[in-house]
Amino acid sequence: MSRIPLAIPNIGAREAELMNEAISSGFVSSVGRFVNEFETRFAEYVGAKYAVACSSGTAALHIAMRLAGVQPGDLVAVSDFTFMASSNAASYQFAELLLVDSREDSWCMDVDKLRTELVRRRGAGEKLPKAIEIVHILGQPADTAAVMELAGEFGIIVIEDAAEALGATWTSGPLKGRHVGTVGHMGAYSFNGNKIMTTGGGGMFTTDNEDLAIRAKHLSTQARTPDRGYLHDEIGFNYRLTNIAAALGVAQLERLDGFVAAKREIAMRYNEAFAGTAIQTPPTLPGQESTYWLYSIQVPAGRGTEARDELQDFLAAVDIESRSLWRPLHMQPPLKDEALIGGSVGEDLFHRGLSLPCSTELTAVEQKRVIDRVLEWLQLNGG
Ligand SMILES: Cc1ncc(COP(=O)(O)O)c(C=O)c1O
Repeated sequence: MSRIPLAIPNIGAREAELMNEAISSGFVSSVGRFVNEFETRFAEYVGAKYAVACSSGTAALHIAMRLAGVQPGDLVAVSDFTFMASSNAASYQFAELLLVDSREDSWCMDVDKLRTELVRRRGAGEKLPKAIEIVHILGQPADTAAVMELAGEFGIIVIEDAAEALGATWTSGPLKGRHVGTVGHMGAYSFNGNKIMTTGGGGMFTTDNEDLAIRAKHLSTQARTPDRGYLHDEIGFNYRLTNIAAALGVAQLERLDGFVAAKREIAMRYNEAFAGTAIQTPPTLPGQESTYWLYSIQVPAGRGTEARDELQDFLAAVDIESRSLWRPLHMQPPLKDEALIGGSVGEDLFHRGLSLPCSTELTAVEQKRVIDRVLEWLQLNGG
């Protein structure tokens, strides 16, 4: 029986065709028609006014932090349960962090907890965040309407980390029809190899504000002005996406709807198989459509990390790859002294969470192999 990987890219003939075109054009680096085309088409797809292609999702987030005016010693509120890249972008600006736990029913930032803390800080005359970075975790839209309202009240910039959630939308409520990453003042997406679409490595910065878009492009290209004498008017970055990578991006974007549909179908099959068992399936909140980018379960409560590792080993023994969920930021050694609100929800997700194979090309037969093995493990462990 062949190995079933966790999540591998889906790259075909169209990708090769456009990448070859980019190579033949001679424009292999950060200038070329595919970079512009990718930005235009991406902005159209998500419904943002502007998109700036970057070398990674982390780079897009860092630019957003810089444009939010985050300076050394400023405070940035960020979801605690996330991949470390989310907070790294703020740390690059030497910001202090306010780590905010997740809600049990969405796995994303608990905005009520953040509200309580901001009101307390205002009352006590303590430092308020310069920016709030809300993370749409594992394809699941975060409570962005609530965070926008809160940020409006306190005059705080909102950055959406949509690295893991391209394609996720709201289907009812105040954000009906909107894509994640387009509601805050700025958004960031990732096209790393394991993401729902890939450019090998890459990211996208989005905004509806023209000035921010111009500044983002400028900063991503070493802040070099059009002056022929190499004039740089501020300290910039080499954060631009290459034309070859953008060609891959254009081809992947053409197929993105299919990838999203495949992820949702895989999630529905897992959900059906685990319904009524002690395996906890990922959140499905009304009014929003997750992409289930990385389909993740929680092993039954009580035995924690040990049970999660046992299941992972049980799957690995028959060549099925799985992976634990993110270790919350407050448990990361370099962030141990940062301010924290709550933390137990993220810890529980970390201790019990396991992502299962969910490549867009996963077949129903392969998926049944995974499901049967998980259910067998469950039975051996008391159902
Ligand atoms: C939540 C989150 N934010 C940011 C990133 C950073 O993206 P990249 O790897 O493209 O830098 C990732 C993924 O890698 C992520 O999962």
